[in-house]
Amino acid sequence: MIDTFNRAITYLRVSVTDRCNLRCRYCMPDSGIERRGHSDILRSEEIIEICAAAADLGVTKIRVTGGEPLVRKGIVPLCAELGKLGVELVMTTNGILLAQYADELKQAGVSRVNISLDTLNPERFRELTRGGELSSVLRGIEAAKRAGLSPIKLNAVALRGINDDEFEKFRELTLDGTTEVRFIELMPIGEGKALWDKSFYTLDAETLPERMSVIAPISHAFCPTCNRLRLTADGKLKPCLHSAEEYNIRGLHGNELKNAIINAANSKPKQHAGLTSDNPSESRRGMSRIGG
Ligand code: 5AD
Ligand code: SF4
Repeated sequence: MIDTFNRAITYLRVSVTDRCNLRCRYCMPDSGIERRGHSDILRSEEIIEICAAAADLGVTKIRVTGGEPLVRKGIVPLCAELGKLGVELVMTTNGILLAQYADELKQAGVSRVNISLDTLNPERFRELTRGGELSSVLRGIEAAKRAGLSPIKLNAVALRGINDDEFEKFRELTLDGTTEVRFIELMPIGEGKALWDKSFYTLDAETLPERMSVIAPISHAFCPTCNRLRLTADGKLKPCLHSAEEYNIRGLHGNELKNAIINAANSKPKQHAGLTSDNPSESRRGMSRIGG
């Protein structure tokens, strides 16, 4: 017997690796994350089985995330299998390796990509990501456009003192109609906790031009309409980004797997508490181990 969702769950975010080729200051600790054994991370067959079960249960959109998904070996064949599930398949990437992968991803069935990019200034980018090359990301964006992975959505975490003067430069990227820019409010989760008081700022959504918007988990929590579940790279379902609750579904199959997915979905909290530096996220994982 299969249970039923008590609210529609249509969107699954799938972290395929904890690793990343950048170390953004609000996301990764200075030391990087501890390397996990290969065997802790779900194999491609396991990811595909879980996603197929979720699709059977009504999930219509799957987002592949990380860490940085493009550092996972075999990411293209994995996407090709996910692409066969009949869901909308999208990816969030930091863009560093995108120039190399854009065409293959499109062919594998990825329809579009969100690219995390917080500053358009090369020195700031190097400083914020602890050594990343902005030019690689810009080449990735161009390749994604050429490959038809569009519309491209750029996600910029709004960071006071780092990118609060770059509004116009981001706006220029939207003018040819190929790209949307979304400013994401910094969340007090993981490394973001320590930065939050100094760096949080938000923009007034009402005043933003076309193709620019704000994702405001802090000022407008969207919990009541949240339709998503998150699968971590080590096989746990997280019903809520900011809750410590996780359900291990590794090793489950068939109806047992489906019921575990439904059970996780049905334990979504009604709403998480308002997030501040005094009341930070209760998640035991930072964003690099959840996937945004
Ligand atoms: N607050 C908001 N967004 C974050 N991300 C990582 N850490 C935070 C945080 N503390 C975002 C990144 C990227 C994805 C991995 O999560 O910008 O889009
Ligand atoms: Fe990597 Fe994204 Fe975290 Fe930056 S924010 S370190 S790109 S996972």
